[in-house]
Amino acid sequence: MINLEEKDPELFDVLKREAKREELTLELIASENFTSKAIMEMAGGVMTNKYAEGYPGKRYYGGCEVVDEAENIARDRLKKLFGCEYANVQPHSGSQANMAVFMTFLKTGDTIMGLDLAHGGHLTHGSPVNFSGQLYKSVSYHISKEEGRVDFDEVSKVAKEHKPKLIICGGSAYPRYIEFEMFKEVAESVGAYLMSDIAHPSGLVAAGVHPSPMEYCDVVTSTTHKTLRGPRGGVIMMGKDFENKWGKVAPKSGRTKMVSELLDSSVMPGVQGGPLMHIIAAKAVAFGEALEPEFKTYAQNVVDNAKAMGDEFLELGYDLVSGGTDTHVLLIDLSNKGINGRHAENILGKAGIALNKNMVPFDTRSPFVTSGIRVGTPALTTRGMGKAEMRQVVQWINKAIVDSENESNLNRLRSEVEAFCLDYPIYKD
Ligand SMILES: Cc1ncc(COP(=O)(O)O)c(C=O)c1O
Repeated sequence: MINLEEKDPELFDVLKREAKREELTLELIASENFTSKAIMEMAGGVMTNKYAEGYPGKRYYGGCEVVDEAENIARDRLKKLFGCEYANVQPHSGSQANMAVFMTFLKTGDTIMGLDLAHGGHLTHGSPVNFSGQLYKSVSYHISKEEGRVDFDEVSKVAKEHKPKLIICGGSAYPRYIEFEMFKEVAESVGAYLMSDIAHPSGLVAAGVHPSPMEYCDVVTSTTHKTLRGPRGGVIMMGKDFENKWGKVAPKSGRTKMVSELLDSSVMPGVQGGPLMHIIAAKAVAFGEALEPEFKTYAQNVVDNAKAMGDEFLELGYDLVSGGTDTHVLLIDLSNKGINGRHAENILGKAGIALNKNMVPFDTRSPFVTSGIRVGTPALTTRGMGKAEMRQVVQWINKAIVDSENESNLNRLRSEVEAFCLDYPIYKD
C-alpha cells in the first residue's frame, strides 16, 4: 500500500511539522503527555478497521475473536493496575466515561454536586454549558480562600441542603491529593453515591504515589492520556461491583442487575456505538507499561519535578494556589505579577513554552482571560528531565513574564529552549 508521504504529501507535511513542534517545545500542559512508540504503533494499526459493537464474547459483528483478546487483556491489566473488580475500557474519552456513569446512576433532573469549573472542576462535573449541567440539576462546592483546598465545611453544607444523588470528586486543576475519604464521609451522611474522576492523577494512583479511590468511591472514571501516558481515551472502574438499588432487573430471569452490567449498557449502546478497537488495544499496551516497575519511578519523578518547580516559583515570588502541590499540577495566580493568564500563555508560546491560562479560585477575570496559568510535569518528565531542569524551565518562564513586551527577549528565550529540547529527544529517530 502507498504510505502517507506518497499518498498525501500535504498532510504528511502537517504531521511532520507537528512532530517538530512537539520536539522543540517545552510541553507544560498538565493534561498532555507523550506515549511510547509501541502505543502509537498499536493505535495506528489494523484494528482501526474492525467493527466490534458489544463486548468480548457478545458482539453484534462477526470476526471479533482477535480483537476480543485485545479488549480482555486491556480489562485484565486495568483491573490489576488499580486493584479493582470492574473495568470498562471502551469510552472514547473521559467525558463519555462520565456521561455513561451519569446515565447509570441518575435520571434526568436528578441533582449532582461537583467542584465548580472556575475552582478547578471539569465541564462534565455540572457546568451549565455541558450535558452534565443541562440534563441534571447541578450544585457546586468550592476551594477555600485561605487554604486553596476543597472547603469541606461547604461540601457538607451544600450536600445537606441539596441532597445530591451523586457527588463527584476530582478535577482538572487541583494540585492536591483528592480527599477521597472525606468525600466518602459526606456522601454517606446524605445517602449520595460517590464518583471520583481521576482523569488527572490516574497515573500517579496506578503507581501508588497518590491515594487510591477504590475503597471509598462507588465508581471511578479516568482518561488514559494524561499521567497514565496512554492513547487518548476513557475508562470506568469500580473497586467492588454491587447490585443496583434502583429496580433494574434482567428481563428473563428477573434477577437484580449488577451495576457493572448497567455501566456496560450505558457505554454501549447508551452513549457509544462501535468501540475504537485500535485504541482499546493501545490502552492495553499502556496499562502493560504502567504495570512495569519503571512506571513507579516515572510517576515519583513527575511529582518530585512538580515540587521542584513549585519551590522555584515560590523563590521567585509567585503565588501558588494551595501553596504548592502533591501531584503533577501547579496552579499559579499571576495577579501579583501584573500579567493575566491569556497574555502569559501567548508570550510563553512565543518563547517555546506551552501551557494554558487557567482560572484561579475567586478569579475576577473571565475564562477567556483568567488570572492564572496551570503547569504540569508529566510530559517533560517523560523526556527524561529532572529537578534541575525544572528549575531552569521556571527561570525561563520568569524571564519571559518579567519582560513580556520585549520580542527580542522572547526570541532569545525560544532559541535557548529549542537548543535545550534537542538534548531531550522524545522519539529518538
Ligand atoms: C477531570 C477531567 N475529567 C474529564 C476530562 C475529559 O476528558 P476528555 O477530554 O477525554 O473528554 C478531563 C479532561 O481534561 C478532566 O480533566
